[in-house]
Formats: sequence, C-alpha cells, structure tokens
Amino acid sequence: MELSTVKTLLSKEVTPTEVEVKGWVRTFRANRFIALNDGSTINNIQCVVDFENTSEDILKRITTGAAVHIKGELTESQGKGQSLEIKVSSIEVLGDSDPDSYPIQPKKHSLEFLRDNAHLRTRTNTFSAVMRLRSSLSFAIHKYFNDNGFYYMHTPIVTGSDAEGAGEMFKVTNLDSKNPPLNEDGTIDYSQDFFGKETNLTVSGQLEAETYAMSLGKVYTFGPTFRAENSNTSRHLSEFWMIEPEVAFMDLAGNMDLAEDFMKSILQYVLDHNIDDLKFLENRLLDEEKKKPQAERSSMSLIEKLRFVVDNNFMRVSYTEAIDILKNCKPNKKKKFKYLISEWGADLQSEHERYLVEKHFNCPVILFDYPADIKAFYMRLNEDGKTVRAMDILFPGIGEMVGGSQREERLDVLKEKMAALDIDEKELWWYLDLRKYGTAVHSGFGLGFERLVMFATGMGNIRDVIPYPRTPQNAEF
Ligand code: 4AD
Ligand code: MG
Repeated sequence: MELSTVKTLLSKEVTPTEVEVKGWVRTFRANRFIALNDGSTINNIQCVVDFENTSEDILKRITTGAAVHIKGELTESQGKGQSLEIKVSSIEVLGDSDPDSYPIQPKKHSLEFLRDNAHLRTRTNTFSAVMRLRSSLSFAIHKYFNDNGFYYMHTPIVTGSDAEGAGEMFKVTNLDSKNPPLNEDGTIDYSQDFFGKETNLTVSGQLEAETYAMSLGKVYTFGPTFRAENSNTSRHLSEFWMIEPEVAFMDLAGNMDLAEDFMKSILQYVLDHNIDDLKFLENRLLDEEKKKPQAERSSMSLIEKLRFVVDNNFMRVSYTEAIDILKNCKPNKKKKFKYLISEWGADLQSEHERYLVEKHFNCPVILFDYPADIKAFYMRLNEDGKTVRAMDILFPGIGEMVGGSQREERLDVLKEKMAALDIDEKELWWYLDLRKYGTAVHSGFGLGFERLVMFATGMGNIRDVIPYPRTPQNAEF
C-alpha cells in the first residue's frame, strides 16, 4: 500500500478504501480518537482506534507528540466535526513522546514560549501555517520572475563592499582575534587575512545584481542578507532574506509598476493556493483582536487585507508631499511624534511612515523622490540637484516593506557623489566600469521577505516568521 499524506486523504471522495499514513499525534481522546497531523495541511485526520483489540501497552504509548504509522480504512465519519476518518486496523508507534516533558502540550502556548522551543514550534497549527505560507510565498516569487523573463542570480554572501554605505556589517575573518597582524600604524593588516582584504557578510546583493542586469537585462536575487544594526524591534532581524530584482532600461516609474504588480501577484498566489492556512491565521487574529479595546481593532480581517492590496492601486506620493502632510498633521502639531517634522529634508521614522499608511492614506503607499542626503550613494540624482529617484513602499501594520531606486548611470555624477561620501573608487572599480561601458538607465528594489511574510500571515513579530531568528544577543539553534 502506498503512503498517503493527510492532505490527499482529506481531499478524497468518500469511497471506503484501505489507506496508510504516518504522522504525529496531536491529541488522543478517550483511548479511541487520534487527531493525526503530518504537516501536509493545517487539518488533522481523525483516526479511530479499536481499543478493545489494541494492547494496553500500545494505547499507553499513543501520546501527544508521538510519531505513528497507521493503516486502516478511510470512511465517512460517524462523528461531528469531520467528514472523513480512518478506522484503524493497525497502529505502530514509530517514536515515543514523553507526555510529561513534551513542550508542545495540546493547549494555547505563548509566542514567546514557542520561540524558546523553535525546534518544535512547527508542530503547532500557527507555526505550521506560517511556515507553509513562507514556503508558498517563496515559490510564488520565483514563479513570478520566471514567468516574466527574469534570470535568478546568486550574488555573493561574502563581499568586500558595503552596498548600503551604512557600515552595519558583520566582519568575515579568520585572523587570530587575540593576536592579529598589525600595520605600522597599529591598525589590523587585512592583507594577511583569508581573502587578502577586509570582507563582510553582504548587506545587499544589489551592486552585483546591477552588473548582471547590464548584460542579462532582467535579473533578481533572493538570498540571505546580514545587518549588524543593534535594533531590537519587531521588524528587524540580523539575518533576513531579501528579494532584489534589477532591470536594465527601466526607470523609476517602471520600477514602481514592477514592484506593485509583483507584490499583488504573489499575494494573489497565496490567496489561490493557501486558503486553509490563511483562514486559520485569520481566526487566530480575530481571537487576538477580541482582547484589544474596540478602537484598536482592525477594521479588516486578514484575508480582506490581502484582497484589498491585490485589488487596489498603491498610492504614489512624493517625499515633498509627504512632508507637507506630516508637518500639518495632528500628532506633529500636538507634539505626539517622538521625532517632530519641522522641515523638508528630515528622515522619516517609522512613526511617520505608519501615520501615512495607517491613518492618512490607509493603503500601501509608494513614497518617491527623497532628499539625496538621506539616501544611498547609488541613487540617481534628479534635475533639481537635491532629490534622488528613490522609492520606499510602506505597508499598513508593517511600515517599510520595499526600498529601491533608479540607479545613477552617469559616471561623472556617480564619481562626484562617491567622493563627497568618501567612498573609495578603487573598492568599486567594477561598479564604475558599468558606467564606462554601455551605461544605461536601470532600476531595482529590495523587498524584505520576512516583512512580506508578516503581512501575509498577520504575525506581529518578525521573529515568528523565520525558522530560527538571529537578533542581537540571540543565535540559538
Ligand atoms: O531599504 P534597504 O536597505 O534597501 C537595500 O538594501 C537596497 N540595496 C535594495 C535594492 O534597491 N536592491 O532594504 C530593503 C528592504 C527593506 O525595505 C526592508 O523590507 C528589508 O529590506 N530590511 C529588513 N528586514 C528585516 N530586518 C532588517 N534588519 C532589515 N533591513 C532591511
Ligand atoms: Mg530602506
């Protein structure tokens, strides 16, 4: 007999058939009813044990968390709550689970407790649903790019350049930390390090992706990204995954169109393919919401929010317009913001971004044409000489989801910018070469994958949408 998954069994028409399934016991009730889950779906299959013909010893070993192998007849269920069940003809306990010490008891656990038990948390409905959605979103991303003529490029993880110029990088070295070789001036001599130069874990694959866009046309990277910023927030990880498309001959308007179409299409994909998991997470959120005061409750359910994004245009607003809105808004006038907006040029903090998307526009917003001074060196300078062709996409409940731009394609302007920021031309000689040989308008963006998973699942903490979160002071598992 062939092994089935719970998912395929539950999708079958009811014609009594002999089936075989393996999974983990979620609960065992009245020495008779096993709720079995194998990870293939949020739903359990009920397996009815013939306790009169099953040994005491086996019955005792059917405990929450145990792995079992079940054979029996798939039939229409007699009981309420499920349409199908398995009448067990044979059961083998493959792996016992001590009911007294097993951390995942059949009750509600806090997310914090489950974070401490991240190696077992996907045995719960919430985390199995989140991680199935994460997998599905990831597939949808590759599918979107593949369907649209993009090539998948693997950008390096160890790099010698600081793409964002923010200096928040993890060093990669195998020098003896107690006794590193020194230069005459006392600084560390990295020429003697493994790669013969200073190297770091990448903060973005963009600069390398640009080189491939300028030959293959349309490319994207989707890989791990590392940032040593000491931000202990619910939206920051030290290791996160980023999707970065880069396209030759595309300007900022095209970049916005691409980002919007891309995000809508992957959210539509999970609406089409993961509705059981979404419904479970939606109900979970509704329960959470009930604990909140009326005024703080969300007006839309999870699935409504996803549909809203898919069905409506993102609002496109220039930085200058946004500053005007913020300068004159209530929380600014009443000094409720931590950082008050007094003039053009101010960097936007997450409180401002959230005001714009959650209070003012109430939909995803693309902010563009930011002041050059608050954005990275590679962004294309506008004719006004003070703004750059940058765009950030802000989402309700999340804040910044995407950061991107049209790139500076003019060699002289780029060199001037690098000089002003003290970026060594020698470090980025290859990046400058792109501007010497067949330069052209090109653009791209970076989407923080975990922030997208947060939005799609309604989870409020980024630590709960990646299997093993890396954050300051934490690298367990
Ligand atoms: O805005 P960022 O820093 O942009 C870049 O790195 C560009 N090189 C992208 C490009 O144009 N190709 O980061 C892009 C996105 C952010 O909008 C955010 O969603 C996510 O990456 N992000 C983080 N996600 C989790 N934890 C962090 N510490 C993050 N930092 C950025
Ligand atoms: Mg950004």
